[in-house]
Amino acid sequence: MAVSETIREAARIIGTARRIVALTGAGISAESGIPTFREAQTGLWAEFSPQDLATPEAFAADPERVWGWYRWRRTLIARGGVNAGHTALATLGRTREMVIATQNVDGLHAAAGSIDIAELHGNIWRERCNRCARESVCDIALEDDEAPLPICTACGGTTRPAVVWFGEALPVNAFARAQRAIADADCILVVGTSNQVYPAASLAEQAVASATPVIEINPQPTGLSPAVDLYWAETASQALPDLVAALDAGESAR
Ligand code: OAD
Repeated sequence: MAVSETIREAARIIGTARRIVALTGAGISAESGIPTFREAQTGLWAEFSPQDLATPEAFAADPERVWGWYRWRRTLIARGGVNAGHTALATLGRTREMVIATQNVDGLHAAAGSIDIAELHGNIWRERCNRCARESVCDIALEDDEAPLPICTACGGTTRPAVVWFGEALPVNAFARAQRAIADADCILVVGTSNQVYPAASLAEQAVASATPVIEINPQPTGLSPAVDLYWAETASQALPDLVAALDAGESAR
């Protein structure tokens, strides 16, 4: 299918949809300069070991190291900011019901103005007390490499990033919200995820198993691609604004 035909087909599917779910992963933030996880040369897991940085055991063994890595990632996110892909999804959400279920912890969908967001893997800008479980916003103003480990202002316990690590359960409410939204949706967008990490990947599987049209946007095909209704081989910050422009131009009606 030629590129313009793909855009037109995507606009036709989205144009008639009242309720959309976007399942997003690291690829939607890649063009903000934030590394993905599994890409061969540039992915975070090509350079770092998840076992050393993203497990409860790693944190127990070396909290300074883990906090340092999360602070570094926050610096990258703050520097990169939202890109045209995040902004285009927020634009789509202004004219129709849109639930974003994201594996990203970067908070960039909210920063772009999206409202209904299920954060499946938590949020890197929050921390949670290991003792009383109280969550709070990380005080980035206090952060530098020499800063002491953060402590809970309520009980004085040590805190950890409020993200989901390997071996941990996903937030029940966020996952259930995503499942319900998929069941109710008229169209599902899968953007920038390799669909390899469960249970989040099961949401895309739920989507393709339903009768609801699924559009996948990813420059590289994934295991899901053969099963979707429309695979769009493009980057998020190109495809999503093109989709918004096509909808504005009335492509869905042609
Ligand atoms: P991955 O790194 O596994 O996959 C990123 C996907 O984004 C790949 O399929 C790329 O082809 C695609 N991609 C790259 N650039 C893109 C662009 N500009 N536009 C659109 N797509 C692009 O990241 P995730 O699938 O999000 O979990 O990874 C899921 C989870 O694995 C993460 O949430 C994290 C990680 O381990 C935890 O830390 C628990």
